[in-house]
Amino acid sequence: MQIINKKYLNLNKLRKSFHDGKPFPHLILDNFLTQNFFKKLNLEGFNTLKKQGKNFNTDLEKNKWISKNSQLPKQIKLIINELNKKEWINNLSRLSKIDNLFSTKVSNTDLANYHEMKEKGYLGPHVDHSSDPDTDSPHVLNLLLYLSKKWNYKWGGSTLLFDEKGKKIIKEIQYRPNRAIIFLHTPYSFHGVKKISKNKYIRSSIYVDYYSNEISPYKNIKLNFEKKWFKHGTFFILPKKIDYLKIKNYSYVKTFLNYNIKKFLFG
Ligand SMILES: [Fe+2]
Repeated sequence: MQIINKKYLNLNKLRKSFHDGKPFPHLILDNFLTQNFFKKLNLEGFNTLKKQGKNFNTDLEKNKWISKNSQLPKQIKLIINELNKKEWINNLSRLSKIDNLFSTKVSNTDLANYHEMKEKGYLGPHVDHSSDPDTDSPHVLNLLLYLSKKWNYKWGGSTLLFDEKGKKIIKEIQYRPNRAIIFLHTPYSFHGVKKISKNKYIRSSIYVDYYSNEISPYKNIKLNFEKKWFKHGTFFILPKKIDYLKIKNYSYVKTFLNYNIKKFLFG
């Protein structure tokens, strides 16, 4: 069965749209999975399973749960496999003009490509880890796929793209069933999730990260900020300056220092 909508198997024609995206290159692909596959996708039973993934519940990562791939239903595994295939990765490489693109070889069962958020869920502005845990290669692209069958944009849950400092929202991409987003990941690609209002539905999504063996992976791309990649961990921006003095934010402060020292030295 065809999984990805045929019209997206060659993204070359959308290259301009991707590279023109602000604040950093991105693309929104509606009806990403074929109608047939999406119709048959059933997450209902899965949502109620006793889950053994990882829960996040801090001010910056609220009501979020990620799975281990080993316990995912077959249909979700099929999607993830498809997004890791060579043909698809070549398609992304042509779209982004990034050479030597690959998805991580870290054992698939250790990965957590399926995410859920419920009411009051929120993800503050952040950049992801900057390198492949296995090879240390730069993290250059992300693909998000919205899987919930029912959603109303009034409930929030949009993906937000921020300026290069992670302070100002530049673009809001609403959560719509079967919508995918591909975006360039750089040390300045701040993104997050708009707060979810009170409702009974779950915001389900798939997240796949891609890497490149290139030392200067962004060399073919026009960016409105410094092109240099540097190594850093996942880094969240705290809402107010005073938040950096709070003991409960200790781990975020550590990543803040790490990020800014690396940026100063190598960015
Ligand atoms: Fe992220």
